[in-house]
Amino acid sequence: MSKNIQAIRGMHDLLPDRIGPWQRLEDGTRQVLESYGYSEIRTPLVEVTELFKRSIGEVTDIVEKEMYSFPDRSGDSLSLRPEGTASCVRAAIEHGLLDQPRRLWYRGPMFRHERPQKGRYRQFHQIGVEVFGLEGPDIDQEVLFLTQRIWRILGLDGLRLEINSLGEGEERAAYRAELVAYLEAHDEHLDEDSRRRLETNPLRVLDSKNPDMREVIAGAPVILDHLGEASRRHFEQFCAGLDAAGIAFHVNPRLVRGLDYYNRTVFEWITDDLGAQGTVCAGGRYDGLVAQLGGRPTPAVGFAMGLERLVALLEAGPQSGATANPPPLDAYLVAVGEAAQAAAPALAERLRDAVPGLRLLCHCGGGSFKSQFKKADRSGARHALVLGEGELARGVAGVKPLRAAGEQRELALDELGTFLQAARR
Ligand code: HAM
Repeated sequence: MSKNIQAIRGMHDLLPDRIGPWQRLEDGTRQVLESYGYSEIRTPLVEVTELFKRSIGEVTDIVEKEMYSFPDRSGDSLSLRPEGTASCVRAAIEHGLLDQPRRLWYRGPMFRHERPQKGRYRQFHQIGVEVFGLEGPDIDQEVLFLTQRIWRILGLDGLRLEINSLGEGEERAAYRAELVAYLEAHDEHLDEDSRRRLETNPLRVLDSKNPDMREVIAGAPVILDHLGEASRRHFEQFCAGLDAAGIAFHVNPRLVRGLDYYNRTVFEWITDDLGAQGTVCAGGRYDGLVAQLGGRPTPAVGFAMGLERLVALLEAGPQSGATANPPPLDAYLVAVGEAAQAAAPALAERLRDAVPGLRLLCHCGGGSFKSQFKKADRSGARHALVLGEGELARGVAGVKPLRAAGEQRELALDELGTFLQAARR
């Protein structure tokens, strides 16, 4: 017998009994984003490969090693999107959205061929925000206030905020030269990966997780010492705004991010509760990207949250478990006998019309009274509604509480709506 086909490594099914925290996260986040005036955008999962190469950068891990790229039937190279920023910028240019400031958000799966481990997957999900057309530190603050509010409504405390400024192009170039000189002078302490990065993307050496590199990285020059006047003022005002709002943060001069498009403000929200994959939300400013992709120069800032990591925190938190799952059914309609079975779906529709938002499951597929009742009980519904041949003939239904003590009683079919409405309160 052939082996059953299974999901691809690093790509996971989200099963109904685990969906509660996902919905809580997605609904809560959406409410906050809407309350700050952000509009949702949806872009395709697949884009031309060139888009990601030109935005994320040719010599980044994502583009060099992690993209799912393939030729389509006409020979174009396409890629599953590894992140959402590039697609948003492409869409904003393509549809002329950059004529005024825009606050956009999106959510959906992203794809990176990384080595799967806890908190790191090949298909993962992000909710992200991209703001176009605003250059001041006030909007950098706003996106952080917004994330802070999301943590608060989800009951997530214990996240740390790390920030840094990457300055502007020339500032970074001068810094890079100094960093390269320093690293070359300490060549004997570099691992193989860092030697390679020294050639291609030296700032990423600072991101090395190799404990043997800790000392040499600690002694490296820092970019904050290379900021020009305007970048320094932007960063200081950004920090002052966080202080004024009471948001605690740590300036981490080694925070460089793994995508090439950033300038000035960058940040990460980090938890210590998930092991090595502790960054739950990350982003920053990318003022050059729109022009780089052919649009008119437009400042921009954004972030993306990793939903798998946030769900892991929610599952470990005090509000995990059954209470986080979707609300239970109000009723399960049991119908036994040919005529009752035939009448049940129409009765269910009448009840749904009568009680907006009613959560009612109408049994399908027949079966004995006993077996249907068992299913009603297992469904978690609050009440069973019972329609047999006798009830149908008398124009009534049996009503039995399933989650509380109480006998079954009969109600006229046209009283059921009022009863169910009252029982929901
Ligand atoms: P990123 O740092 O590559 O940034 O990803 C953002 C977040 O997505 C990470 O902090 C993490 O929580 C989650 N994440 C990334 N890769 C994985 C993975 N393999 N498995 C599980 N979770 C993952 C970006 O994607 C930028 N587009 C963020 C941004 C938006 N910057 C400006 N605007």
